[in-house]
Amino acid sequence: MRIALLSDIHGNLDAFEAVLRDLEGRGVDAAYSLGDNIGYGAQPEEVVRLLRARGIPSVLGNHELAAKQPETLAWFNPAARRSLALTLEWLAPEERAFLAALPLFLSVHGVRLVHGVPPDSPTTYLFEIPLYELGDRFGSFPERICFVGHTHLLGLHRLEGGKVREEELGPGEHRLDPPGRYLVNVGSVGQPRDGDPRAKYAVWDAGRGVLEIHRVPYDAAAAAAKILARGLPAEHARRLVR
Ligand SMILES: [Fe+2]
Repeated sequence: MRIALLSDIHGNLDAFEAVLRDLEGRGVDAAYSLGDNIGYGAQPEEVVRLLRARGIPSVLGNHELAAKQPETLAWFNPAARRSLALTLEWLAPEERAFLAALPLFLSVHGVRLVHGVPPDSPTTYLFEIPLYELGDRFGSFPERICFVGHTHLLGLHRLEGGKVREEELGPGEHRLDPPGRYLVNVGSVGQPRDGDPRAKYAVWDAGRGVLEIHRVPYDAAAAAAKILARGLPAEHARRLVR
């Protein structure tokens, strides 16, 4: 079984389509989204439609939480709030209802999917939890591996012999051998915060016990221009191309 993990697409249809094209020929059985499909980007409606058309299940991100509980808009910084308020206006009521109904976590093929941190938080950032507390977090879910997004930064936490180690997650293959347990941050498809404009995603090959990290170039300048053309905050356009 090979599954693709995509997170933080953030209304960036160009990046999302590039990742789907990159997936062709990789022998993937299914793809999953770790949430934040909307917000920041210029094409949230198209992203939601494509996600549904391809039958890609998703968990609830903090941006989808705003579709469910509009009072959570107050938690966002002013630019993100403005972007999200416009996004929610553009989405059809039925699309908003679809996003609001997304689950807080999924347990599929023996792995757990959560937007922020396990067991099921869409709002807490991984970096908010000190390393010495992460060991306890591993006790909060039964799956050996949990995939997260939310920070838009790739990273790996490994629990082995009672100790948690943080490791970089560069491109290529990484073995996630038992009995170790792992927390994998797959980075962002559509709104990078790591200085690399490419779209990032992961493939988990359960049979080989190998995690693959992929980086996909796409026309980020076109996606940035669409953000400006639609009157969304310019800083979210700049982030795509710098
Ligand atoms: Fe996000």
